[in-house]
Amino acid sequence: MKLLITGGAGFIGSNFIRYILNKYPDYKIVNLDLLTYAGNLENLRDVENNPNYKFIKGDIADKNLANDLAKDADIIVNFAAESHVDRSILDSAAFIHTNILGTHNLLEAARNNGLKRFHHISTDEVYGHLGPNDPAFNEKTPYAPRSPYSASKAAADHLVMAYFHTYNLPVTISNCSNNYGPYQFPEKLHGLFITNLLEGKKVPVYGDGRQVRDWLFVSDHCEAIDLIIHKGKIGETYCVGGNCEKPNLEITQKILELLGKGEEMIEYVKDRPGHDRRYAMNFAKIKSELGWEPRTNFDEGMRKTVEWYKNNEDWWKTIKSGEYLKYYEKQYKER
Ligand code: NAD
Ligand code: TYD
Repeated sequence: MKLLITGGAGFIGSNFIRYILNKYPDYKIVNLDLLTYAGNLENLRDVENNPNYKFIKGDIADKNLANDLAKDADIIVNFAAESHVDRSILDSAAFIHTNILGTHNLLEAARNNGLKRFHHISTDEVYGHLGPNDPAFNEKTPYAPRSPYSASKAAADHLVMAYFHTYNLPVTISNCSNNYGPYQFPEKLHGLFITNLLEGKKVPVYGDGRQVRDWLFVSDHCEAIDLIIHKGKIGETYCVGGNCEKPNLEITQKILELLGKGEEMIEYVKDRPGHDRRYAMNFAKIKSELGWEPRTNFDEGMRKTVEWYKNNEDWWKTIKSGEYLKYYEKQYKER
């Protein structure tokens, strides 16, 4: 089996590549990644010499490149995206380019070359947000994105389904909840808070810190994608959740506890504009149809994540210098 994985130098994509190379020693992987600020070949240092793995630097929106790579692939798994809500609030142009135009370009490449499958990685954020007593999102929840990021992901999902209905392209989509774990870029909640504390800095909690996310450990997500690309039904969407709804303050307190720090390290800062209050995923469909459910409980996932950042200081210290700092200056200046 030949997989064209896009965005494989990012957080979830790099975890997925490592997972697939370990589980299927006869599979061949091509990783197409533009190496934006979030793409990092250090994430894949341990597999770069694997004969079944090849890296290509490039843009998923490059027509000729995508078409050439699709010629030699059975399946495309599309992780490539601009993925951070706060950045989409500062400047959404790259989100439109990659998440919408890039996905469209890959769909064309898959169609022109008769691929066996196009699997698209999406998010629970396309469904909008929930009140405290609302039932969790499921595959039938109407789309209601509220940030430039989630709107661009929703547009991509619609294109993917349009290619199924219009051209019979064999597609599947997974909409997952917030992931956490090793190699997450230190701008998202876990990576930022853990590394700030390791540097002796405070952690910026937005607003009242009571926003709720449904946390999914990244290796559980990889297992779900593996099942969907092998056994999922063509033309279907699968909601993937962590069975782990937690307010941001509880995540913060857990990180403080694991690092032996006190609540004085919390700094309440101005809220994110349009901040979605709660996400939660009902994963009954993938559980009943494909037998998947999350395996990593909260304590275990948090412990493994904190340990990983403690043991990989060079990785995040390199990132948290240079360009990265400019983003933070801009973010707080413009709020
Ligand atoms: P990430 O930001 O860590 O990585 C994205 C990768 O895509 C980077 O390696 C980047 O270089 C690459 N990329 C960006 N633009 C590109 C382009 N034009 N061409 C080729 N490569 C490009 O993201 P992530 O957290 O690993 O997320 C992966 C996917 O999962 C995304 O589609 C995201 O929307 C989705 N998702 C993520 C989460 C989460 O919690 N991280 C939750 C739900 C859905
Ligand atoms: P994030 O990791 O950016 O993911 P998303 O916005 O896609 O859910 O944020 C997770 C939650 O943590 C979200 O409610 C915003 C909050 N948050 C903070 O309070 N402070 C921060 O510095 C960051 C990055 C996030």
